[in-house]
Amino acid sequence: MQSLLAQQRLSSLKEAFKSDFFIGTALGAEHILEKNTKANELIIREFNAITPENHMKSVNIHPEWNRYDFFLADKFVEFGQKNKMYLAGHTLVWHSQLPNFVHKIKSADSLKLFLTDHINTVAGRYAGKLNSWDVVNEAIEDDGTFRKSIFYNLLGEDFIKMAFDLAAKADPKAELYYNDYNNEQPAKRKATIEMIKKLKASGSKIDGVGIQGHWSINSLKLKDIEDAIVEYAALGLRVSFTELDLTVLPNPWDLKGADVNQNFENSPKMNPYPKELPDSVQTTLAQKYEELFKIFLKHQDKIDRITFWGVADNHSWLNGWPVRGRTNYPLLFDRNFEPKKAYTSVMNLKNTKPNL
Ligand code: XIL
Repeated sequence: MQSLLAQQRLSSLKEAFKSDFFIGTALGAEHILEKNTKANELIIREFNAITPENHMKSVNIHPEWNRYDFFLADKFVEFGQKNKMYLAGHTLVWHSQLPNFVHKIKSADSLKLFLTDHINTVAGRYAGKLNSWDVVNEAIEDDGTFRKSIFYNLLGEDFIKMAFDLAAKADPKAELYYNDYNNEQPAKRKATIEMIKKLKASGSKIDGVGIQGHWSINSLKLKDIEDAIVEYAALGLRVSFTELDLTVLPNPWDLKGADVNQNFENSPKMNPYPKELPDSVQTTLAQKYEELFKIFLKHQDKIDRITFWGVADNHSWLNGWPVRGRTNYPLLFDRNFEPKKAYTSVMNLKNTKPNL
């Protein structure tokens, strides 16, 4: 006979998956500063892990050679500590959202100086407070070649080892992650595994791989995701899904023969649900999340954390990318901070009592 407790409906994502993995969300400035009561209550109720969506990126935290701005990053850490959450640092080395002065660097020596000062200062400041760092973000292209970023162009692939070694020294307790998108797909996965093997063979510390998980309900490749979990874990690494969201909107890159000058921004075809999401799409979203979470649960022994890239649909970056001004619905909570059908389908995987 089930105990009374077991029969009770689970009250939150973090509660439901507490024996499986952390459930996280990305926080923007308004969340960190607790501007919206409903959002704040939701964050505290549902999630036990947080990532700063933008405020630890170099453009924000290190705007000039000799100037750092820690205001929101410090507040983020305070928020997480106050609520006893897993704190994920994001990100130390990334080609995007770089401050202007970095784009102007021309020599390998200057870039090394930047990397050293940046990682020592940022990882050093939060040493012992963060659970993990995304040390390097997005260093590999979809075809498996190294991205020709300023870091690669001036330092070659050694910049990756350099970053991990600096981070390990500056914050010995944090788990160190390599983070990327599409790294579940075969070509990129293979190149990532080679890169990690080299890194480990050279004596560097790396603890995990972050699979961002920016996917679409129209092209979710479950087999790639499962293979990636298994293969990364076989390297002795933890796996986390660090930026999960499922777009429900058409992808401009899928439009065969699309005129590159076409104005996607004001095209109703590209923004089909400006008012609300039709039931049929809501149901598909719920099914896709359910399929995904079944895989996550099957491999919960290898997975540390599932973090959604945003709190609720209103705040998702996918309303503005890759086409500006659209209305997207990629998360588990709607614009009123209410749980969607997708929330229920994910929770039902753990509920002992069916939803009535
Ligand atoms: C995005 C943020 O969500 C946006 O607010 C910002 O304008 C651009 O960056 N991969 C990453 C994240 O690692 O940091 C990105 O976040 C999304 C893609």
